[in-house]
Amino acid sequence: MALAGNGYQPGFGNHVSTQAIAGALPLGRNSPQVAPLGLYAEQLSGTAFTAPRAHNRRSWLYRIRPAAMHGHFAEYEQTRFHNVFGAGKVSPEQMRWSPLPLPESATDFIDGLVTYAGNGGPESQTGIGIHLYACNRDMQDRFFSNADAEMLIVPQLGRLHIETELGVVDVEPHWIAVIPRGVRFRVSLSDGQARGYVCENFGALLQLPDLGPIGSNGLANPRDFETPNAAFEDIDGQFELINKFQGHLWRAEMTHSPLNVVAWHGNYAPYRYDLRNFNTIGSISFDHPDPSIFLVLHAPGPVAGVSNLDFVIFGPRILAMRDTFRPPWFHRNIASEFMGLIDGVYDAKAEGFAPGGASLHNCMTGHGPDAETFDKASAADTSKPDFIRGTMAFMFECPLVIRPSEQALMASHRQTEYIDCWQGLRNNFRG
Ligand SMILES: [Fe+2]
Repeated sequence: MALAGNGYQPGFGNHVSTQAIAGALPLGRNSPQVAPLGLYAEQLSGTAFTAPRAHNRRSWLYRIRPAAMHGHFAEYEQTRFHNVFGAGKVSPEQMRWSPLPLPESATDFIDGLVTYAGNGGPESQTGIGIHLYACNRDMQDRFFSNADAEMLIVPQLGRLHIETELGVVDVEPHWIAVIPRGVRFRVSLSDGQARGYVCENFGALLQLPDLGPIGSNGLANPRDFETPNAAFEDIDGQFELINKFQGHLWRAEMTHSPLNVVAWHGNYAPYRYDLRNFNTIGSISFDHPDPSIFLVLHAPGPVAGVSNLDFVIFGPRILAMRDTFRPPWFHRNIASEFMGLIDGVYDAKAEGFAPGGASLHNCMTGHGPDAETFDKASAADTSKPDFIRGTMAFMFECPLVIRPSEQALMASHRQTEYIDCWQGLRNNFRG
């Protein structure tokens, strides 16, 4: 039976206090000698105890039974979902994939995860893992938690009803959900099937970027992020907990549902965000700003200005720049870029990049508009604005090379002739 949601509180990283039953949340003490209503008090820390206050994340959970209560862990076989990114050769070639096929047999969110690429790993607590999911069944009598990473979930097809220890997060395409490291959850499919993208962030937690000269408004505004209120179920039975730990999945039996947190307070919690609330900023004279202007969230790295992960979107916008090549330009970057498409048509490609598909352009590999897009944009009348409507593309960008997995390289839906999209670029030189 699905756990019903209990509403949300607005804001990013705020200290939230929420209780599903009046009186469940203790006042004044985090860990009173006896917690209210016979609950157990349990702290969940998402940052080092001594992290500076501005970055310190933790929540206190008041629950029917503590998280320590479960059976032995044994390995769980789901070999398509992993963090094996390899240490050997990696081709610099541009890569692209058609949409991940939906499963033909009953497959839930956990078994439907397929690792495409990544770098670093949970042992070093740096880098990212990039996965797609395609599923057609609710998670039944089982729960998942990821000790390795917070999970940025980007639905592309179908709604997800994500029941977590700290409350229910409902998302559909154009929304994102972030599930913190260690939080247990269960995913139900409101539409019977679903597909989307997941980025595991092994590093520092995602946060809103500074705005610099943009000022105090713009890009993703804090009030548009939503944290769920407490919601719980008090159910005994036969359940299993799947725990991702150091790149592998482990399974333990449980005799109760872990969605038993009646009240909680703190600032370490899942959240959701509607990408359509992103206040897109761009040039109103000529040229483009760098795509960092489309940054929704980033996970800072050890070097100032160099993120472990940038999450960037290319959404609806108006292009009014005069005498400017308006689509994304040809470029080679030190950063590596994994792109996905949620909806519509991405403005740098005429065809081949479909919703549910993906592309990978690694460090210093040339890419940009295909030949057809180049010809069209070069001849466009830039005295009139272009309205980019009905699309949402995104990018997971990071400073480390993104290493495609063996299964992604060998996948039948990989477009092995992707590079052909640039072969029609003519020599227009008139020197
Ligand atoms: Fe790029």
